[in-house]
Amino acid sequence: MTLEIYKSLKINKERVSFLKPLNHVAIILDGNGRWAKQKSKPRTFGHKKGFEKIFDTVIFAKEQGIKYITLFCFSTENWNRPKLEVGFLMDYCATIFNEKNKKKYKDNNIKFIWIGRRSTVPEKVKDALENLEKFTFDNDGIQLNIAFDYGSYEELEKVFQKLFKDLEENKLKVNDINFDLIYKNLYTKTVPPVDLLIRTGGEQRLSNFLLLQSAYAELYFTKTYWPDFQQKDFLEAIESYKNRDRRFGRIED
Ligand code: IPE
Ligand code: MG
Repeated sequence: MTLEIYKSLKINKERVSFLKPLNHVAIILDGNGRWAKQKSKPRTFGHKKGFEKIFDTVIFAKEQGIKYITLFCFSTENWNRPKLEVGFLMDYCATIFNEKNKKKYKDNNIKFIWIGRRSTVPEKVKDALENLEKFTFDNDGIQLNIAFDYGSYEELEKVFQKLFKDLEENKLKVNDINFDLIYKNLYTKTVPPVDLLIRTGGEQRLSNFLLLQSAYAELYFTKTYWPDFQQKDFLEAIESYKNRDRRFGRIED
């Protein structure tokens, strides 16, 4: 498990610049519906375009040397949308990560990971995402984490349930519980904390996304709707990140 950032917090001698590599970028893909509306199209048109952008975005991230990218595609709260829209999102997710497309993830050395609840999505979504995970298991170019039916509250509930069960069964002592152990039980156990969190679509909130993993993330908000988010917009976000002073609660030597 890579928790370098948290470990390095304890090394006071290290200079802040040591902590500046951009390993993990997380993106809240927002604005699909409004993008479609401004084109007088149904919201689903925006979702289709939004899903279709994923692959190229990951390739671009890989070219930038980013090692992990996490994309928020469907939240535990999105079930409260109209049935038709939810149905479309499920169908399209299963389509975009299907048999036909999985080869391009494999061939481009993308390791695919699904973070989120696995018990509530339709079987076809579960099959598609799990097959892609298996198919790309040995890849190491970039890790793509798709957050689908993901929410930090639900993720934390699972962690608490697991740790309390271990306590009950005497596999764990209360004093063994520390942040590292909590982190190792998150869906993102194989992912270091977020360095840069981007949200498209103009809202400035986290919406229950990677709350613990983003404790020290640099936040970047853009009004651009996700379907319009281009390489130049991504580069602007990276540029902004490069100019941030990440102190992690410390002061410069
Ligand atoms: C983000 O776009 C995609 C999902 C949450 C599935 P939205 O659907 O939230 O689009 P807006 O915010 O209504 O424009
Ligand atoms: Mg939205």
